[in-house]
Amino acid sequence: QPQKEPELPLFFGWLLLPEVQERIKCYTMDFLKTLDTLEAFKKHLSDFTGEAEKTLDLEQYFEAKGPLHCTAKYCDYGKAEGAKEYAEEQVVKESYGGQTELSVTALFVTPRTFGARVALTEEQLKLWPTGGDTECLPPTLTGVDALPVGSRAHVTLGCSASVEPVQTGFDLLEILLLKQGGQEGTTEEEMELGTLSYLGQGRWYLALREAVTADATFSSYSD
Ligand code: A2P
Repeated sequence: QPQKEPELPLFFGWLLLPEVQERIKCYTMDFLKTLDTLEAFKKHLSDFTGEAEKTLDLEQYFEAKGPLHCTAKYCDYGKAEGAKEYAEEQVVKESYGGQTELSVTALFVTPRTFGARVALTEEQLKLWPTGGDTECLPPTLTGVDALPVGSRAHVTLGCSASVEPVQTGFDLLEILLLKQGGQEGTTEEEMELGTLSYLGQGRWYLALREAVTADATFSSYSD
């Protein structure tokens, strides 16, 4: 009798502990509230609303779905390329279920997504799939290979209506490419939490003065 293949999850990744999820949600919502009231943000409000509207509630604008996590390998129950190979890697099996600390170094907001940038440690990078940064990129996003490995690592905090969470990683990469290219015309503002930059077209990036740590379990998730 043939052996049944073990089922593959929607994704492997670092899932924030429940109490940490609450803490991060509060912290990041506070940032949205503050951003909403900044003159610099109001000046570029039409990036988000279109010309007619004069106000915006960012907390309402972004919708959170599912548990807060940092995706390592998107498997789509085995339909994604390399899913099976990843699940079979020794380091994945050995790390599975283990607790680790994620380091959040920046927050970013675009008209599509709200996310937290994660700086993976050497240890955590061993679980980052080969080609993980460039997987399924839209053709307009070029030059990602030149960014350090793991640049795409993030936690999706929310998406605007009809936007899929996969967009958050694209938005982060786009911002990092702009920053690396020394994007002209960037306005910068010092906030209590860190330095806020505007990168045009509704793209905001807050480099945190101090990284925020978040305890997480390396595990998998299925809907
Ligand atoms: P992210 O990691 O940015 O949050 P969905 O609900 O759309 O199936 O996505 C489930 C999770 O897998 C989300 O966390 C999502 O994005 C991530 N994800 C979806 N598609 C991809 C992809 N092609 N590559 C990497 N991650 C993906």
